[in-house]
Order: sequence, then structure tokens, then C-alpha cells
Amino acid sequence: MGKELRFLIGIVVVCGCVLVANADYMLYKDPSKPIGRRIKDLMGRMSLEEKIGQMVQIERQVSSFEVMKKYYIGSVLSGGGSVPKENASAQDWVDMVNDFQKGSLATRLGIPMIYGIDAVHGQNNVYKATIFPHNVGLGATRDPQLVRRIGAATALEVRATGIQYVFAPCIAVCRDPRWGRCYESYSEDPEIVRAMTEIIPGLQGEIPPNSLGVPFVAGKEKVAACAKHYVGDGGTIKGINENNTLIDWHGLLSIHMAGYYNSVIKGVATVMVSYSSLNGVKMHAHQQMITGFLKKTLRFRGFVISDYMGIDKITPTMHGNYTYSILHSINAGIDMVMVPNNYTEFIDGLTFLVKNNFVPMSRIDDAVKRILRVKFVMGLFENPLADYSMANYLGSKEHRELAREAVRKSLVLLKNGANADEPVLPLPKKTSRILVAGTHADNIGNQNGGWTITWQGVPGNNCTVGTTILSAIRNTVDPKTEVAFKENPDVEYVKSNEFSHAIVVVGETTYAEGYGDSLNLTIPEPGPTILTNVCAYVKCVVVLITGRPVVIQPYLPQIDALVAAWLPGTEGQGVADVLFGDFGFSGKLPRTWFKTVDQLPMNVGDPHYDPLFPFGFGLETEGIN
Ligand code: BGC
Ligand code: BGC
Repeated sequence: MGKELRFLIGIVVVCGCVLVANADYMLYKDPSKPIGRRIKDLMGRMSLEEKIGQMVQIERQVSSFEVMKKYYIGSVLSGGGSVPKENASAQDWVDMVNDFQKGSLATRLGIPMIYGIDAVHGQNNVYKATIFPHNVGLGATRDPQLVRRIGAATALEVRATGIQYVFAPCIAVCRDPRWGRCYESYSEDPEIVRAMTEIIPGLQGEIPPNSLGVPFVAGKEKVAACAKHYVGDGGTIKGINENNTLIDWHGLLSIHMAGYYNSVIKGVATVMVSYSSLNGVKMHAHQQMITGFLKKTLRFRGFVISDYMGIDKITPTMHGNYTYSILHSINAGIDMVMVPNNYTEFIDGLTFLVKNNFVPMSRIDDAVKRILRVKFVMGLFENPLADYSMANYLGSKEHRELAREAVRKSLVLLKNGANADEPVLPLPKKTSRILVAGTHADNIGNQNGGWTITWQGVPGNNCTVGTTILSAIRNTVDPKTEVAFKENPDVEYVKSNEFSHAIVVVGETTYAEGYGDSLNLTIPEPGPTILTNVCAYVKCVVVLITGRPVVIQPYLPQIDALVAAWLPGTEGQGVADVLFGDFGFSGKLPRTWFKTVDQLPMNVGDPHYDPLFPFGFGLETEGIN
């Protein structure tokens, strides 16, 4: 063969290879290409079926490798308490999530799914996770940097279980404590809620200065966040869950919108729509607020997700009119729908609506573009599968220390002796005998509240691992101090035992969402009886474990010292740290403490403001640290 011929063959071979390589080359899979181009390339290849699949979020119970693959499902969630098995380990979680993910990767285009969960105070559905105080307690700390660190720790514990997306933070501004979700709100004051959006850079990572406002998630140790519930969830009449928020435009923007501006600037990846209505219009159908305000005015570029069966509630009484719900929610601007069970009904309905031009293709493209942007930004295409390498973060010593610090800083001291000259707290570590009493003294489940292990929370000590307030007290006092514990002691016992003082821990039992709505806000029995029986005879410190202010005025004269501990989570040691003076009290009320429920709603700044303890109140003590 002549030299030239060999050269020519060479060229043909090289070109052939390039051609073959080109046919295989998929720009969207190339991480060196700009995200805008990757999205465009991928969308150009997608069928309507594949696009609609991206818009669907299903519950893990109805999910499988096959379902993910067959329906091109874009996302899976764990509802409250939806776990792969009881006391599942990090590895069990990773295996489950990976199994679904492999179904997604086995599709024609291999678009990874994103898995979401309510990690609202730590990775709280997961056994042995660190449980941080609920948001109301974090509001009392007035410490956004602490909250940011909690976000970072939560991200690690969520990733430890293979999950990449959290339905947090809740940036509701709860304006009425009768609302069962008041503990999910940092404060009645929009400025505190706004400040606490610092949890977003904790969860997602710090947004680069040149991309303010663009969704941002910094890789494998961070998670996509979700500002919820847009908008006005904390403003419903009488605090009735999912009800109507009647408010003028100025009030809406200055109170309920406050946290959203900051969340968008900080690059929050997603926003969840509220079940509630705004001036009579269901938020899930509110085009002006979702497409108009959030997407156009605020220029939010992440994706908007519905709440759990949220679109169904647009037509709750119109049985069989799910298609109407799909039409109005998608046209309002919702991008991903937390269906989460009857996904074929949703897919068929939306497909019909698009094919018959009720929902424009441009709307579908907007939704899919936003979903893909988040997936690309966070590196899901490059790292779709989790491994076990982060398992040790779950409930780690370091995270529990952080939670303990948060508990210390969240405690609000409301009363400390009859006057400032005779403080009851801090208590001496060394005395003869102290009494610990109350339904919440030795109860890790009550400390955690709702959204822990299960949706409604699980009272008792079997649900997960942590330190109860009783064991924290035992760990803290001098070995010679006798600690007697009786949950509900009778008067004779209290009288006959010469206790130097008593610590009474009572409060609300666990609840979530509408199950926590309450018009009377009383502590359930036997709490008041225990308090009355003990405080009548022994110098007593009452520690309240509640998601909100409760009726306490009638008991106040009998109580020597009163501490609001909110829902502190698994690290009860933080309570004893402060009661016994290792650290000082520093927390400030994130809410107004009412005298009687008929004053409600009553918030700081209201013209008729006559609280028992005003917003911002909190006595301080010195600690040795
Ligand atoms: C709640 C949301 C939550 C979702 C998923 C809904 O009922 O309102 O806050 O993220 O369920 O569990
Ligand atoms: C789920 C929750 C969800 C709720 C909505 C429950 O069954 O576990 O996650 O928020 O339903 O009503």
C-alpha cells in the first residue's frame, strides 16, 4: 500500500471515529457545558410523556424501580413517617433511594430523580438522627448563624440517608398560636423569620456572589431546600390549618412575604405552595401570586412544588373533578406536583389537557426547565447514586453537641423567684434531695413533638435515641444529690419528702398540622394537676414543653421559676446545662405570651397589646461558661 493510500485510509478511520463519537455524544451529559445549554439540549430530546413525568412526585410507598422507569417519574418523597422499615439504618435508606434512582437511570434519557423528605428539625423521620429544636425554639435563640450551622448538619444527615432534597425551611409567620403548625414558624415577627432564612445557605451552601437569586446547591454534602408554604400559611383566621388568610397587599408583603425575598436571593431551589387560601382564592390555583409575583416579580428560577395532595383540595367537593384541579394548578404555575399516590390519574389528566390545548406546551416547558435546572445545578446528573460513606453523620456526636447548644440558647426564662433579689435559678448541683415530676420529664417523644419518626410524633421513650430531661438532670447534679422521679406524685408524697426543690416538666403532647389546632391552648391533664400538687408544697421550677405559648397565667403565682423550653428535640442535656448554671439563660420570646385566649390574635405592634409576657421578653442569668 502506498503512503498516500495509507494516509487516506487513516483519515477515513479518524473521521469515522469522530462521527461515531458524535452520534454518541449527548451535550446534556457533558458537565463542562453551561447549564443553560445542557437544559436546552436535553429538552430538545424529550417527549411529552418524559416531560410530564418530570413534573410528578410520588410517595415511596407507590414507588419502585419499574414505576420510575415506566412513567419517567421526576421525584419521590417520604411523607411524614414514611420509612423503608422500622428503625431503618442509613444503609437501608440509601439502598431504597438508589433502587428508585436506578429505575430513573434505566430510562431512555437517564434523567435522575430527586428524593424529598421533611427534614424540618434534623433528618427527623430517621431513627437515631439528631433532632434539633423545632423552629419556634430556634426563633428564641435570635441566632441566625447557629441556625445556619443546623442547616449544614441537617444536610449531612439527610445525605447520609441518600436523600438530596428537604421540604424545609418553613418560613411561615405564625400570627395566631391556635394554629397547629405554630411551632414550625420561627416567630410572629417577620424580621426574625427573614433572618432565619440563613438556614438556606446552611442546607444548600453559600451562593456565589455573581449568581444571587439563581437556585444553588453546592454538591454532594448539601441538599436542595424548599421555602414553604407560599404564602400566608401563618395568617389564617383563628389559626385554622389550611384556612383563609384575609389580608391587604401591604400586610401580605410586609408580614408573610418577608422570608421569600431573602430565600430567593439566597438561591433557594424550590418553593412549596400553601394549602391555605389568600382572600378566598386557593393558593394552589393562584396564578397571580405564583406566576405573577413569585416567578415574574421576584424572578424565582427554581421550581414550585405543590403540597401533598394540595391540588386535589382545589376541588374538594367536586368529586371526580381532578382534571379541573390539574388544569388550574398547572396553569397557575406549579411545576412539580406532590401527587403523591394516584400518579396515573395525574399523568393521564395532564396529558389530556396538553394534547387538547388547555395547558399550553410553553407551561410544560417552563416547569421542566426549572426542574432540570435544579437537578443540573446540584450535580445530580454527575452523582445520581449515593453510597454509605456519609452514614456516620447520622446522629453524630458533633451534631448532638450542636443540638444541645441550640437547646441551651432556645430556653426562655419567664419567671425567676418572686423578685430579682431572690432568684431560684440557677439551681445548686449539690443538695440533699430534689424531685423531678411531670409527663414530659422522662419522655423523648414529647420533647421532640410532631414531625419526628412519624408524622404526628410518638410520645414515650422507644421511638428514638436521645437524652431525656430527667437523665440530663441526673447527669448534671452532684453524685451525692438524690434525684427522685415521680411522673404524677400525690400530695402526701410531695409533702413528706423534704425536697429542697422540684423540677416539674409538663406540656403539650405531640401533634402535627391540623391535629394541633386548638382553640383553648391549655396544657392537657394531668399536667396542671401535677403542677398544682407539687408547686403548692415545694419550691418549684416549671419547664414547659410546648410548641407555642399556652394558658399559664392561672398557675403563675404558685410557680417559683418558669422556663419555656419549646420542643427541644433529642438533646435534653441542654436544658440541664442551663437549669444548673453551667450556661446562662439568654433566649428571648419569639412570640407574644397571651394572658387569655380571647385576646388572640395578638402580635407585637398591635394597637391593643396587653400580654402576660411581651414579645422579646426573657430574663437572663450568668453561666460559668
Ligand atoms: C405538609 C408539608 C409537607 C408535606 C410532605 C404536607 O401535608 O403541609 O409541610 O412538606 O406534607 O410531607
Ligand atoms: C403524610 C404527611 C402529609 C399528610 C398530608 C400524611 O399521611 O404522612 O406527610 O403531610 O398526610 O395530609
